[in-house]
Amino acid sequence: MLERTLEEVSRGGVHSLLPDDVQAKIGAFSAGELRDGVERNLARPMPRGPSEAGRLLMNPCLAVQWLAAFEELDLPRDLRVYEPCAGSSEPVLLATDLYSEGAGEYVSLNLNRALAAQLRDKLGKVRLAWTLVEEPAQAARHVLAPGSFDVACFHHAINDLLQTAVAEPRGMDTRTVDWWPNERRMIEWLAEEAAAGDLDRRARPGLLEAVRQAVEIVRPGGWLLFDHWTWYGHQDQAWFPWELFCDLIPLAREWIAEAGLPLVEHPVAGRDPRWWMCYERQ
Ligand SMILES: C[S@@+](CC[C@H](N)C(=O)[O-])C[C@H]1O[C@@H](n2cnc3c(N)ncnc32)[C@H](O)[C@@H]1O
Repeated sequence: MLERTLEEVSRGGVHSLLPDDVQAKIGAFSAGELRDGVERNLARPMPRGPSEAGRLLMNPCLAVQWLAAFEELDLPRDLRVYEPCAGSSEPVLLATDLYSEGAGEYVSLNLNRALAAQLRDKLGKVRLAWTLVEEPAQAARHVLAPGSFDVACFHHAINDLLQTAVAEPRGMDTRTVDWWPNERRMIEWLAEEAAAGDLDRRARPGLLEAVRQAVEIVRPGGWLLFDHWTWYGHQDQAWFPWELFCDLIPLAREWIAEAGLPLVEHPVAGRDPRWWMCYERQ
């Protein structure tokens, strides 16, 4: 995966879809900086320490991981992809474009307006049809046709859904909030709920409803894919619920199993089940 990722992000398909200024910055890194940046982004959790290449290559590296997952599942080349909570992140969208050579279709339901605007600004080179809809993932079936997607990609979205579920009832409007300066507060609220043993009551319903709705809009025989990552730099920060964030996939797996949804889990080759989870929709 290391060599392929290095090739994709420095010269290959993923690189070809990146904005000119990002391509120029990648071009200015040494071979050693590029390799180190890719290695950092393949590790889970990602290593400590500042690395400009690591930061810049994060989303391109994640795009390669999603592309490889689509290949492994042998999805149709003209695939339709649903992503809840894209924010300003392009990995799933770039993977869809490359896998389909621009023939696919991509839809995200995403609440935060400013992050969606940032994502739009990154998409000048993509060829596929994409739509960003400002609706909650818990309303997917009211916005998108049942059984009409090949795959739902929850890319680092479990934490997004949980954070919103605890922030909205506390009065934070997550459509309009300036996300990054306020994210720590959302995570602190999530940590408070976890410490009080209240995740089941306050956070689980929002996540499970988003999953349930994704199940409805994915065709039988289609897929739900989840990934998560975190960064060792958070481990020593007292406010950060480190263990919770390292185990969000196992927690979601447990909740999904208890929800009795028509899903069967499959392993994904070379992916740690602590950080990746893949279901076939029955
Ligand atoms: C920080 S971005 C994360 C983007 C991407 N998932 C990633 O981790 O790279 C979080 C986004 O999730 C969106 N989000 C959170 N809960 C949501 C929900 N219930 N429905 C739709 N979007 C949601 C937020 O509005 C925000 O745009």
